[in-house]
Amino acid sequence: MAKLHINDDKACGRIAPEIYGHFSEHLGRCIYGGIYVGEDSDIPNVNGMRKDVVEALKEIRIPVLRWPGGCFADEYHWKDGIGPKNKRKKMINTHWGGVVEDNSFGTHEFFELVKQLGCKSYVNGNVGSGTVQEMSEWVEYITFNGVSPMADLRKENGHEEPWKIDYFGVGNENWGCGGNMRPSYYADLYRRYQTYVRNYDPKTPIMKICGGPNIDDYHWTKTVLDTCYDHTKPEFHGFMDGLSLHYYVHPEGWDIKGSATDFDEAAWYKTLGKALFMDELVTRHGKIMDQYDPEKKVGMIVDEWGTWYTVEPGTNPGFLYQQNTVRDALVAGITLNIFNKHCDRVKMANLAQMVNVLQSVLLTEDAAMVKTPTYHVFHQYMYHQGAELLDSAVTGIGEIESGDWKVPELTESVSRGEDGIVTVTVNNLSVKDSKTLDISFASGAYEVVDASIVTGDIHAHNTFDDPETVKEEKFTAYKSANGAISADLPAGSVTMLRLKKA
Ligand code: AHR
Repeated sequence: MAKLHINDDKACGRIAPEIYGHFSEHLGRCIYGGIYVGEDSDIPNVNGMRKDVVEALKEIRIPVLRWPGGCFADEYHWKDGIGPKNKRKKMINTHWGGVVEDNSFGTHEFFELVKQLGCKSYVNGNVGSGTVQEMSEWVEYITFNGVSPMADLRKENGHEEPWKIDYFGVGNENWGCGGNMRPSYYADLYRRYQTYVRNYDPKTPIMKICGGPNIDDYHWTKTVLDTCYDHTKPEFHGFMDGLSLHYYVHPEGWDIKGSATDFDEAAWYKTLGKALFMDELVTRHGKIMDQYDPEKKVGMIVDEWGTWYTVEPGTNPGFLYQQNTVRDALVAGITLNIFNKHCDRVKMANLAQMVNVLQSVLLTEDAAMVKTPTYHVFHQYMYHQGAELLDSAVTGIGEIESGDWKVPELTESVSRGEDGIVTVTVNNLSVKDSKTLDISFASGAYEVVDASIVTGDIHAHNTFDDPETVKEEKFTAYKSANGAISADLPAGSVTMLRLKKA
């Protein structure tokens, strides 16, 4: 019998809302068409931002948005994206499809979007092909409230007040597309560049994110920390507030990847097995971070994660447009549970990417928009944002074996919000077997106040003709008896239960 025991007397730290963050790059139809359509578009918009997209993102309480890349960040020259739109430089987006980037979405537009979403801003600077001066001036342009060349330029461009940068990334993937650097070289550059990311308003300091490893490159993590960490200076926090980690799930490996919708049972388990690898990555990189920062002041920032499949047939290979099935819902559910359980170290995560690219929460086609299965999981999990992680464990479950892969039957995480309501999110990873789960608490009886489920055939997905094949539905397959709750979890499902003390 599967049992979930929740020790509600033991809180294990706050789940940073930013773990539920998103990422938007100048890539394919993420920014252009997906978010920004321009003020003159027939698609309903506010100052150029799609109303439907902004509304949908607010419904999942988007906490933070990363921009402008990704690989694009280390080619982006921010001054090309300010001033009158008809005078902005056009450039080639060499990384992503070789298309023309007209720079009509730039700094002002990003902060307009952040304002409409009501979320925090995460700006990623250019180390790979940019100068220290360029980075430093961008920060001055955005945040300085006074008389200075860049603040004056911002005002000339119509924005009197400064904006707030919550997080600033010093480069992106500098081990790869961001300059093919070796870790000690990048780390020296990090020391230098971050110096000029000035905190013009010390009351609202910018959290500085250092470029971290790709997947399991533990050497990168160690070398970067070795080079940057100075034992004689206790103020390491402020010099580096976060270290990034990137990990994508390619079911059949980087070269082949695999279809988003046409896959077999083996590929399902392989994909979920690969998603579970996030736990090992966070644990092992976290252990290295502990050697330098035992108090866990530096956050692990998983600012790119998600599934990465072969693009949809007939679409531009450089645009990374893919569908999203119940399998992606499970990847999201599994990964977010892992982040919740590691909330002592993971302080932000950004799903790649928000609209029309990789594991998106939204897909658009002209004026139409669909919410993907992944969107619905983010909606289920939003109650974890800012809640206290509770100690919890599942017993009485086995592992499912498929080829070289083994996955547990269930994964879960549990938190308690300020209102005292406990949120349980549990995934049934099996393709065919449902599972009954008995939920009990250390401190006594609880009752269900709300519950929902995302499930369906493993290939099920939403299209523009059929946008609601997979959606969040009311979950009613539970019983309460003698203070315990018993839930029947269908195969391939993500279930959320909200519980309060009886
Ligand atoms: O998200 C797509 C790309 O993946 C990003 O631009 C890059 O940082 C990563 O390799």
